[in-house]
Amino acid sequence: MNTIPFIGWRIERHAVVDSTNDIVRAAAQRGEPEGFVVTAEEQLEGRGRFGRKWVAPGGTSLQISVLLRPPLAPLATPRVVRMAALALYETLANHLHLAPALKWPNDVYLNGLKVAGILMESSIRSDALEYVILGIGVNVNYAMRVYPELAPYATTLQDVIGHEIDRSALENALLTELNRQYQDLLYGDDLVDEYRARLDMLGKPVQVSASGGIVRGIAQDVTDDGALVISVDDSSVQVYAGDVTVLKDSVPGAAQS
Ligand code: BTN
Repeated sequence: MNTIPFIGWRIERHAVVDSTNDIVRAAAQRGEPEGFVVTAEEQLEGRGRFGRKWVAPGGTSLQISVLLRPPLAPLATPRVVRMAALALYETLANHLHLAPALKWPNDVYLNGLKVAGILMESSIRSDALEYVILGIGVNVNYAMRVYPELAPYATTLQDVIGHEIDRSALENALLTELNRQYQDLLYGDDLVDEYRARLDMLGKPVQVSASGGIVRGIAQDVTDDGALVISVDDSSVQVYAGDVTVLKDSVPGAAQS
């Protein structure tokens, strides 16, 4: 009988690290089993997608990296990041009774501002997925005005709720949700319907900056393999990676859904 791995069976807690993802990668390369978790009170070189910095004052937030070894083909890795986005969504909705929204591919928003993000890094060996590192950052107990350059785009749980919250209870709730969602993934659910239902942008005009340039159109759907489908004029474009902005105005020439 297959046993389900338990995310958080071993948790290594650090005061200060460069990046929790780096610690998990080193452990993965030494053969650490999946479910291993690293947390840090402070990161000196915390990173986000597209080589951006990920910052939070020490001792205020959640910085967590999780090692997974899902039995999936490399092309199915978007399912893993979808799983983590859903776990974050459910944690904020059920544990804190907030009304989050997901932004493709893996950002979590509250009141139109980003509160959490996921950086997935993976290793592929002989055409197989060797491991996946899910790096999760949640802005918790500080006021985003300490970073004036981020304040127009990002928020913290303290800003939204109005007071500090118990970070270890939040971490527990997140690990519980990750375990729940990972079980569903391992039992074959690609989680795409759940993810679609929590995305805040379907049917809305969007602009996506991707490696091939900028695409503007109406966000129509997300495919099983993780692409955002955008209708542009009479055709549709699938984007696999990029930065998406929901536009306030409609897009000329784009079909409304
Ligand atoms: C993003 O939104 O661009 C992703 C942000 C991911 C930040 C987390 S914090 C824990 C882990 N360690 C890192 O250096 N980054 C991720």
